[in-house]
Amino acid sequence: MPADALKQAVARAAVDYIAPKLDRHDIVGVGTGSTAGFFIDYLAQIKGHFDGTVASSEATATRLQSHGIPVYDLNSVDDVVVYVDGADETNPRLELIKGGGAALTREKIIAAVAREFICIADAGKWVDCLGSFPLPVEVIPMARSHVARELVKLGGDPVYRQGCETDNGNVILDVHNMRITDPRALETAINQITGVVTNGLFAHRPADLLLLGTEAGVEQIAA
Ligand code: A5P
Repeated sequence: MPADALKQAVARAAVDYIAPKLDRHDIVGVGTGSTAGFFIDYLAQIKGHFDGTVASSEATATRLQSHGIPVYDLNSVDDVVVYVDGADETNPRLELIKGGGAALTREKIIAAVAREFICIADAGKWVDCLGSFPLPVEVIPMARSHVARELVKLGGDPVYRQGCETDNGNVILDVHNMRITDPRALETAINQITGVVTNGLFAHRPADLLLLGTEAGVEQIAA
């Protein structure tokens, strides 16, 4: 089955999962990427069952608004009942690598706020050990070379993502060749480098539930 069909299946499953739980006052957090894009399209079919959304990127906000779904500033809402987003990799503990779409910082902020974090991913994202996908790190532009040198000391091979400016006006370093055996320790270590905004490891705040799209159907995997 093509990856897009698996992404659509998990996006549909996420809407089916959250719809019965939603109240008309609820705010839904919405992620970024192609899987999240399918989720937005299905979410539009239940608009009116919830109040509105908070978006993890400008692209996501635009797509939500194109469906007439309200998008709020995170500072203006008291609670986010659920956050739904894709991932670049997930391990069996539902620790993730995210940020292939450069939206990792806003994604991590909404995940931190949300009561429940549901990850939607096709089976190609499932790994035993994180790190085959290069780990994105959002960096203040003037600190790029300094941060790159520090990442080399941590054992990685950082590559500047040319032509990419994040929604926050920063740059991305993609760290190759890291076999991440202790995701929580590495997440902390990278965030200690001066000039790093955050990195794409979601280990301190893993997903609560994974909807994994496989050839046999959508599997529900709880943390
Ligand atoms: C965006 O910055 C990422 O964290 C995405 O969630 C991730 O790249 C997954 O994207 P796809 O759904 O397009 O595979």
